[in-house]
Amino acid sequence: MLSKDSKVYIAGHNGMVGSACWRALSDAGYTNLIGKSSKELDLRNQSDVQDFLADERPYAIIDAAAKVGGILANNTYPYEFLMDNMLIQNNLIRSAHELDVQKFIFLGSSCIYPKFAPQPLKEEYLLTGPLEPTNEWYAIAKISGVKLIEAMRKEYHRDYVSLMPTNLYGPGDNFDLKSSHVLPAMIRKFFEARLNNNSSVELWGSGSPMREFLHVDDLGHAVLFALQNQLKYGLYNVGTGKDLTIKELAKMIQKITDHKGEIIWDSSKPDGTPRKLLNTELLLNEGWKYTVDLQEGIKKTYDWFIENQSELKMLSF
Ligand SMILES: NC(=O)c1ccc[n+]([C@@H]2O[C@H](COP(=O)([O-])OP(=O)(O)OC[C@H]3O[C@@H](n4cnc5c(N)ncnc54)[C@H](OP(=O)(O)O)[C@@H]3O)[C@@H](O)[C@H]2O)c1
Repeated sequence: MLSKDSKVYIAGHNGMVGSACWRALSDAGYTNLIGKSSKELDLRNQSDVQDFLADERPYAIIDAAAKVGGILANNTYPYEFLMDNMLIQNNLIRSAHELDVQKFIFLGSSCIYPKFAPQPLKEEYLLTGPLEPTNEWYAIAKISGVKLIEAMRKEYHRDYVSLMPTNLYGPGDNFDLKSSHVLPAMIRKFFEARLNNNSSVELWGSGSPMREFLHVDDLGHAVLFALQNQLKYGLYNVGTGKDLTIKELAKMIQKITDHKGEIIWDSSKPDGTPRKLLNTELLLNEGWKYTVDLQEGIKKTYDWFIENQSELKMLSF
């Protein structure tokens, strides 16, 4: 039985998602959380993973460890994106099963769904069409993780589950303009432009694509929910179920950062897919719902960015 002193291993606990899981669990009173950096334990190494877990014997594992990156990184290192991610999750899932770990929560992303699947994306659309080619290496690794979890449930009746979050934002985000996602990139651009006498901000594309955003602390709470409840299915989307245009997002961030300059849309740059929204009914029916409103979440993230600017990784002002 899970209790507040059950040992829970959060793989990738220094990352944006792993640290949000850590916050959610410790705020909820879990006192026996363990984590290891990639330097202390390389999860690609099966015997090291096996030894560590055999020593620690956690009750539950949350797998928030992954090699992540944008289009450029995926295109440049397809082998590492496929191999490293498969190794990390395979090692953890195999040892968890062999050592009788009671709960396993596997984290992936919405890129597992086919490029042309109907919107909002339902869990049942998995493997119904071709993937977006720019991140298929990463997506295929994550799909194999989802399938391993499904196989564990089917064959061994394990209480293991996969959670697929939508676009995340919040504390610990990456603000490096070369590799960041749209929301943190906008926060940084508007902030810098305001400091620079409200100079204009140039943004990619037409601003018309629609996107969904979830505060990473909401994901932390979804992970806590999955830990504390026995869920009916093996795969759940995690999102708000609501989207907005990139133009609306830009206006919101412009207001929050108090930027008074012009926004220039560079329509020579690609828009990407017109809409990407998760259908979140399955998890809603289990009783979980997000709580952080987008505007409030961006405001909190902006405050965090201001407080932590000097320490942010790869941030060259
Ligand atoms: N960020 C998003 O918008 C988003 C959206 C949807 C889904 N997700 C999913 O959430 C998960 C985590 O993403 P994130 O954004 O938190 O990434 P992140 O900030 O880059 O964190 C990834 C973590 O994985 C660990 N790691 C990587 N390779 C490792 C290895 N070989 N051995 C041990 N640890 C290793 C890293 O540990 P060290 O720091 O110690 O090196 C790091 O803490 C991924 O599965 C991702 O698909 C993220």
